[in-house]
Amino acid sequence: MTKTVKTQVCIIGSGPSGLLLAQILANAGVDTVLIDRRDRAYIEGRIRAGVLEQVTVKALEDAGVADRLHREGMPHDGVYLAFDGERHRIDLKGLTGKTVTVYGQTEMTKDLFDARTGAGQQFFFDAEDVTLNDLKADQPHVAFMHGGEKVTVECDYVAGCDGFHGVSRNAIPNDVLRTFERVYPFGWLGVLVDKPPVNEELIYAHHDRGFALASMRSPTRSRYYIQCDVNEKVSNWSDDRFWEELSLRLGAETAANLQTGQSIEKSIAPLRSFVAEPMRYGNMFLAGDAAHIVPPTGAKGLNLAVTDVLMLSRGLIEHYSNGNDHYIDRYSQDVLARVWKAERFSWQLSTLMHQFPDYSPFEKRMQRAEFDYLRNSEAASRSIAENYVGLPME
Ligand code: APR
Ligand code: PHB
Repeated sequence: MTKTVKTQVCIIGSGPSGLLLAQILANAGVDTVLIDRRDRAYIEGRIRAGVLEQVTVKALEDAGVADRLHREGMPHDGVYLAFDGERHRIDLKGLTGKTVTVYGQTEMTKDLFDARTGAGQQFFFDAEDVTLNDLKADQPHVAFMHGGEKVTVECDYVAGCDGFHGVSRNAIPNDVLRTFERVYPFGWLGVLVDKPPVNEELIYAHHDRGFALASMRSPTRSRYYIQCDVNEKVSNWSDDRFWEELSLRLGAETAANLQTGQSIEKSIAPLRSFVAEPMRYGNMFLAGDAAHIVPPTGAKGLNLAVTDVLMLSRGLIEHYSNGNDHYIDRYSQDVLARVWKAERFSWQLSTLMHQFPDYSPFEKRMQRAEFDYLRNSEAASRSIAENYVGLPME
């Protein structure tokens, strides 16, 4: 059996990038089909980051999916950097006039799924063997297997929103695609727990034993991370061992307020910086993790995905409503200019805050000197703040 579906924009991947793109385009009357190799429950179950820039919050408002975010999201005016137990608060609001909002990516994904179900547009979950074809032609098509049936989606444009392990990026021929990568020699072991956060604001902690992060999802749910060996196994980390190590790295003063409990999720993620260029090939556009990865230290991954989608949707809407291709023609260069700045910030903050196995005593002193400089210089703190709240879109 073969089925053919026609649409304007075929979106591959229903993570935050694909879902938000579908929502914005639906609001503008552009028809989309969304394809994912997983199902909704799996996608919603993934625990990811949770810090939204103001640009991201506004994008969700404009897309009509911010009601719950406004009720449950937690605005934060500042964030702490700590070095061997000494804390320095970066006053985000005082230094930039902007804040960030703590709201789990999981929740944002749920809100977008609910909105899309409401809008009644086409979804294909559990799609297998997705292939992108004729990307340079006027009518590209995407083919896949769905419930034993072969489905072909004929479209004007393909949006590759299928994350780092997706197929879209690899549809760009080798002689066109350039990739830039740095893999860090450690990972993050994350724990989710139903206990109030140790501190009202996030704490990024540098410690001799390795980096630690105290974050949260709500007033009663906390998210913590510790730097670990990249080959470490979750099974080696009982909850008790995790709490003990986290306490050491946060320092006695902070750890005195730590409420521990049984973890409800525990996982290890590698740290990577990655950029693929260009982000357009023929009539296909990449957005989000399909094109770039940042280490999570600056909380930029989700926010970058959202700004990619804002720029792509603007271009597609201009094309369909006014026949104006100015923005889609500039998409790759405009997005990449912003992406590289976020890559720089995420790399810089990661380099400052982690223990690198090959660092000499000199390099360790450089980390310490940078922290001391930051603590005593409003200009240096402002630079961190400006990047943390998100650089302007244009
Ligand atoms: N065919 C169809 N769908 C696919 C394929 C494929 N071959 N490969 C991957 N997918 C789907 C995945 O199942 C997933 O649901 O693409 C989706 C990609 O979602 P994400 O990985 O969440 O990527 P993105 O939407 O760009 O979100 C970026 O997620 O990883 C975080 O830090 C990142 O917060 C950022 C955000
Ligand atoms: C999280 O809460 O999961 C989180 C917060 C900030 C980061 C990374 C992850 O920089």
